[in-house]
Amino acid sequence: MGVLMNISVIGAGYVGLVNAACFAKLGHQVICVDVDKEKVDKINQSISPIYEKDLEEIIKKYKKNIYATTSYKEAVEKSDITFICVGTPSKKNGDIDLLFVDQATKEIAIYLKNKKSFHSVVVKSTVVPGTTQNHVLPLLEEITQKKAGVDFGVGMNPEFLREGAAVYDFLHPDRIVYGYYDDHTKKLLSLLYSDFSCPIVETSLTVAEMIKYASNCFLATKISFINEIGNLCKRLGIDSYEVAEGIGLDDRIGRAFLDSGIGWGGSCFGKDVNALIAFAKEIKEPCNIIQSVVQVNEQQPLRLISVLKKHIPLLKGKIIGVLGLSFKPNTDDIRDSRSIILVKNLFEENAQVKVYDPKAMNHFKKLFSDIIYCDNAKDVLDADAVIIATAWDEFKKLDYKGKIVIDGRRLLEAKKTAKIYEGVCW
Ligand code: UGA
Repeated sequence: MGVLMNISVIGAGYVGLVNAACFAKLGHQVICVDVDKEKVDKINQSISPIYEKDLEEIIKKYKKNIYATTSYKEAVEKSDITFICVGTPSKKNGDIDLLFVDQATKEIAIYLKNKKSFHSVVVKSTVVPGTTQNHVLPLLEEITQKKAGVDFGVGMNPEFLREGAAVYDFLHPDRIVYGYYDDHTKKLLSLLYSDFSCPIVETSLTVAEMIKYASNCFLATKISFINEIGNLCKRLGIDSYEVAEGIGLDDRIGRAFLDSGIGWGGSCFGKDVNALIAFAKEIKEPCNIIQSVVQVNEQQPLRLISVLKKHIPLLKGKIIGVLGLSFKPNTDDIRDSRSIILVKNLFEENAQVKVYDPKAMNHFKKLFSDIIYCDNAKDVLDADAVIIATAWDEFKKLDYKGKIVIDGRRLLEAKKTAKIYEGVCW
């Protein structure tokens, strides 16, 4: 059993709350800080303000170990280590916006100034390499008038949690990475994670930050790569999934993240890939591979339209059904969803669009008001052709009899009943 600690977590969003709840589950005492009073109240009533598998159950079960507040004072005074887990959104040029990181850092610093005992501040938010060392640390020193490494500690501990599997990923990590500025923070973090049996990477602040960016960029690269191979496979009339099996057996390559289709979406890959491109530009280093990764990803949903046009050359006035709007199944998140690009392009072809998604329709309605939103998946099938854009389980059970189905997500079940079935890369 590792050493139990008093922890504070700034930001009760998806990363902050999952980390806070999981630390509580491990027996630590956790204080969550958020500026949103409504969120704070919900957490204190053991209600999760966001949906994430198993999260609410943990908050309920370990309610003795976790509470939320809007007070930074309380959080800093009553804990030994503070994790900054606020959002780092993209600016228009791709740069990350450090507004929330700055706000959190300044607030922490105000109370750190008068704190007698040693306290470590650890950045968990995804920030471009160099940010903790060159931005957060000097800001803390300036406001506290104290010396980092002597009077307080600094660390960087990136997260590798997938939406929808975040609790599982926290509890069963492939590796834990943390960077440290001072030995006290190194010791604290090593004690905090001492119960985990996975490899632990102890490194510098900037290496830890780069590991996070390089991980997400590499995963996005794998997907764009297999999509490019998949497009070639399609032309050859062969199945890209057979190719993925064949190359994935090479340990150096691995089978994971080689599912071809219509590309990656979500709140992280696009943001991180673009942030690294913007960062590279700033320091005048070429970023050719990563730039192409984005280009392939933007083009990939359009493949659905070219496959569809083989069967319906003129889409004008035709009704096209789209199954799935979220960026992946089991979430209502539509950020960077490929369905957005798809629907925009169907509009450009003057097609009529009808859609269904079990969770994401309300979000989609804010972007597109003049499409038909169906009450169930079956109603979408009443169209000239159907496109599968997200691999929700319930789409596997539909009867596609008599339909033209163009599949962007490898729902082979549809092939069994459809009149015409074509995959985008198979
Ligand atoms: C991703 C990473 O997987 C996490 O490790 C990371 O912590 C997280 O971003 C983050 O930075 O916070 P997430 O955005 O939840 O997690 O989504 P993934 O499950 O990785 O899927 C991303 C997209 O890639 C989805 O649109 C999915 O459909 C697509 N994908 C995934 C493929 O097209 N092919 C694949 O083989 C795998």
